[in-house]
Amino acid sequence: MAVTRTFSIIKPDATRRNLTGAVTKMLEEAGLRVVASKRIQMTKEQAEGFYAVHKERPFFGELVDFMISGPVVVQVLEGEDAVKRNRDVMGATNPADAAEGTIRKAFAESIEANSVHGSDSDENAKIEIAFFFDESEIVG
Ligand code: CMP
Repeated sequence: MAVTRTFSIIKPDATRRNLTGAVTKMLEEAGLRVVASKRIQMTKEQAEGFYAVHKERPFFGELVDFMISGPVVVQVLEGEDAVKRNRDVMGATNPADAAEGTIRKAFAESIEANSVHGSDSDENAKIEIAFFFDESEIVG
């Protein structure tokens, strides 16, 4: 299995509850290595740009407002089959559907305040990583 990268966000509901370390521990225990990480306050423009694919969805405005409601931690994760590995440990988007042992089952408050984001494909991982990081900031 190839070592690949994915992009992760620890969302405002998790940073607010001081869960950055707890979430990162679960990512690491799932076999992912944090090769870049920064805590930022997203601007409205950044959140709208990042989630542009969802701009026609009814929840877009609330999603943007939530993502700028507090700091987030953006991360690049590396590991074997990183996109799938990360999505497996994140659990289902809606915490009501998330399996035991997943981050969202453990920590998510709602479908919106669901603690983490993770890329859904290798192609989107590259786009999302480039949205927040220069290659020089990624140190394996
Ligand atoms: P994320 O993986 O960050 O990508 C888009 C986000 O939209 C998703 O996680 C959810 O947190 C958020 N969202 C808010 N409301 C909904 C909804 N009704 N259906 C799907 N996603 C939603």
